Amino acid sequence: MTSSAEFKDRMLSLGLARVSEAAALASAKLIGRGDEKAADQAAVNAMREQLNLLDIAGVVVIGEGERDEAPMLYIGEEVGTGNGPGVDIALDPLEGTTLTAKDMPNALTVIAMGPRGSMLHAPDVYMDKLAIGPGFATGVVTLDMSPVERVQAFATAKGCAPQDITVCILERPRHEEMIGQVRETGAAIRLITDGDVAGVMHCAEPGTGIDMYMGSGGAPEGVLAAAALKCMGGQIYGRLLFRNDDERGRADKAGITDLDRIYSRDEMVTQDVIFAATGVTGGTLLPGVKREPGWLTTETLIMRSKSGSVRRINYRTPANQH
Ligand code: FBP
Repeated sequence: MTSSAEFKDRMLSLGLARVSEAAALASAKLIGRGDEKAADQAAVNAMREQLNLLDIAGVVVIGEGERDEAPMLYIGEEVGTGNGPGVDIALDPLEGTTLTAKDMPNALTVIAMGPRGSMLHAPDVYMDKLAIGPGFATGVVTLDMSPVERVQAFATAKGCAPQDITVCILERPRHEEMIGQVRETGAAIRLITDGDVAGVMHCAEPGTGIDMYMGSGGAPEGVLAAAALKCMGGQIYGRLLFRNDDERGRADKAGITDLDRIYSRDEMVTQDVIFAATGVTGGTLLPGVKREPGWLTTETLIMRSKSGSVRRINYRTPANQH
């Protein structure tokens, strides 16, 4: 079964929440332990186990890496019981492995699901990204604009001064020039050390104070962020970045021929999808996994792009079961 008509998004969204919750509970044990790999592995194991309980014929299109690099949840892995609709899955069992290892804010477990062929099979390379929240004309800012032009155009559209805009950027040496250019406009910058899926989502989430996200990060994370914005509203543009022939080869394997193409949100995510994220460490989007004597509690955001619905589900579970 492959058509979007068979994609029972209402039913599946609750199942997706369980998957995301399980990954968060598993990786939460590793918060602040200084071990990125162990935290990621715990999330991967739990996510895979829960995914395999779902009545879907799922294929991982954005996952932990190529088949020869990742033993589990690799790109192309089939997940689910096989009894159900054919779906594509994009996942990042732990978005913010370092944030988790260092007990820093905004580590999330993230998963999106849609009908087969609904999401760009982005190779594991970098992507130049630009995102804003909902309520603005399409193309008000573009990747082809300079950082200064983006801030100015956005401020004009918002009816405020550049000084009133806050841009979120990953703090990396490669972004120093961009950061300098944004500062020239007078805009504020929220620098984040990791986690650009959350960085992009901040643009569409009321109350975060972030207007725009820009800079390069993982392409898989770009598709996941596009899935989130497809549900929340807002725009994201992405252009794949290739540093060598190996990376260009990955694009070829993924069937991507136009290496300079700029993808809009709806070109990265072409059909309606569902999206779930659970907080691992507490942050501005979601609280982290809460431990109380005898109990663990998670909060999960579940969104459906078809309806625009956003749910926040609290899950309390006996600590001795985890
Ligand atoms: P991990 O959770 O896999 O460590 O990724 C975190 C992250 O910050 C992503 O959010 C972002 O897209 C990417 O790493 C940026 O890559 P780099 O650290 O190489 O700049």
